[in-house]
Amino acid sequence: MLVIVKKLTLFERKRMEKRIAILASGVGSNAVSIIKYFKENSGADVVLVGSNKPEALVLKKAADLGVPSFVFNKGALTSRPDVLNKLLKEEIDFIVLAGFLLQIPESIVRAFPNRIVNIHPALLPKFGGKGMYGKHVHQAVIEAKEKESGITIHYVNEFYDDGAVVFQTRCSVGENDSITTLVEKIQALERKYYPLIIEKIIQKL
Ligand code: GRF
Repeated sequence: MLVIVKKLTLFERKRMEKRIAILASGVGSNAVSIIKYFKENSGADVVLVGSNKPEALVLKKAADLGVPSFVFNKGALTSRPDVLNKLLKEEIDFIVLAGFLLQIPESIVRAFPNRIVNIHPALLPKFGGKGMYGKHVHQAVIEAKEKESGITIHYVNEFYDDGAVVFQTRCSVGENDSITTLVEKIQALERKYYPLIIEKIIQKL
């Protein structure tokens, strides 16, 4: 039997890598850990970072790591198809929200079914929803005298913090914990698990 082994061109090999776009509004520590992870591991590449905040630090961090970025306003995301068109033009396979503060419109959810994930810095369904972001989440956890908090990675639908949960992991919250110490614990979990869970989901696409 004759077996023809075709040598893949560099372009073909690269296209086997799934193309990730990250949407972020802030500092970008998750974006950085995900970009770096997929520079070192095969299966996916972060090829685009998008932000609704022109001043967001994540844009500078993306540039430092050689990842192209784009800035858009709320209208371009929700009332016009500009962001959707950009994602389609860039042949994006998977969207990662990393501290992205705007709601994703139904048009984008439909175009990327089970292909958008978000990370939330608490154990959903507790401490989620509109206004529950950043320090507000940790403050609410401490005020409620919770004994534990953690991270939730979930699929994204058109409602805040509402899609199916993919992964959760916990950390303790003690009497001596402050917002600062809780942020440190949660950020360590985010850096460790977000890239790994993204990789697992992408392997099944
Ligand atoms: C993270 O805590 C994440 O859980 C939440 O927003 C924060 C983003 O932080 N969704 P960064 O911009 O990645 O540093």
